[in-house]
Amino acid sequence: MRSFARIAVLAGSAAFTIAALALEPDLPDGEFPVSGYRFMGPQVQQLQDDDFLNPGWFAVEFGAELWQEKAGDRNLSCQSCHGDASESMRGVAARYPQYDEHRTGLINLEGRINEMRSRYMNAAEYPLESEQLLAITAYVTHQANGSPMNVDITGKAAPYWQQGRDLYTRRQGQLDLACSQCHDERAGLMLRGDRISQGHVNGFPVYRLIWRSMGSRHRMFRWCNWAVRAEPHELGSDEYLSLELYLAWRGRGLPIESPAVRP
Ligand code: HEC
Ligand code: HEC
Repeated sequence: MRSFARIAVLAGSAAFTIAALALEPDLPDGEFPVSGYRFMGPQVQQLQDDDFLNPGWFAVEFGAELWQEKAGDRNLSCQSCHGDASESMRGVAARYPQYDEHRTGLINLEGRINEMRSRYMNAAEYPLESEQLLAITAYVTHQANGSPMNVDITGKAAPYWQQGRDLYTRRQGQLDLACSQCHDERAGLMLRGDRISQGHVNGFPVYRLIWRSMGSRHRMFRWCNWAVRAEPHELGSDEYLSLELYLAWRGRGLPIESPAVRP
């Protein structure tokens, strides 16, 4: 049944297949990345496609307000420095997470945005998973809509990529299952009413219907950890940042899809 993914996509053109082969993805059997969108039922797909009904748009619109909101001692907004986000933030989200010399560690888009607040604006960082941080992240990510994910895993990022890959393939939890056992080996199969996708991160932050809210990549990792009754890591932890880097690389070439909706 893993062939679900293949059937769906191989039904496309030969050009698609050739492009996919060039990606040499880290997926089994030479499979290439398929967005979670393709694994959803038509109703959820329609919800995502409809700009009026897609609940993720509330976050993007709230993010647009935050972009212009002045804050901190210096009374600056994101816009004060970056101007029009559709220019300055175009494609940016597709390059995160990345190694950050300043922090000497991995940083994701949420982390970069919070760094702007503390370092450049003298404003309080947004709490992880807060409505504000999700909204501004969704807004910035939306400016990369359609850009292929393209993270740098060379140099100082390399050990994080390795850690992420180890976490992805390590069995864990009472169910003793690795991420790869669901998202590589069982993609396309049903699990308690959900169709398991390849586990890509190109739609995040996503609006998940079961959460009735937006959620980050790290919240999703926690959910998946709970699914196998494993102890989840902290939001923003090195483990999840590494996993995020690995997954962004594993799905490289997949276009950013934002705001995405998931069941
Ligand atoms: C028991 C099977 C299972 C395991 C193991 C599992 N997941 Fe998932 N995962 C799911 C299901 C079910 C969903 C929701 C449907 C979907 O999008 O695949 C999901 C969704 C996701 C998504 C969202 C995909 C999208 O397009 O929105 C990501 C990312 C993800 N998982 C990552 C991971 C990571 C990282 C691990 C290991 C820490 C992991 N998963 C372990 C079952 C699993
Ligand atoms: C005082 C000016 C200033 C303000 C205010 C500011 N930024 Fe920045 N921003 C910069 C500079 C300079 C850089 C590039 C250097 C760096 O990353 O530190 C940058 C980089 C970024 C990047 C990374 C771009 C890339 O190509 O990787 C993002 C994302 C970003 N800013 C978002 C924001 C957001 C969102 C806000 C508002 C919360 C904001 N910035 C506020 C000056 C600012």
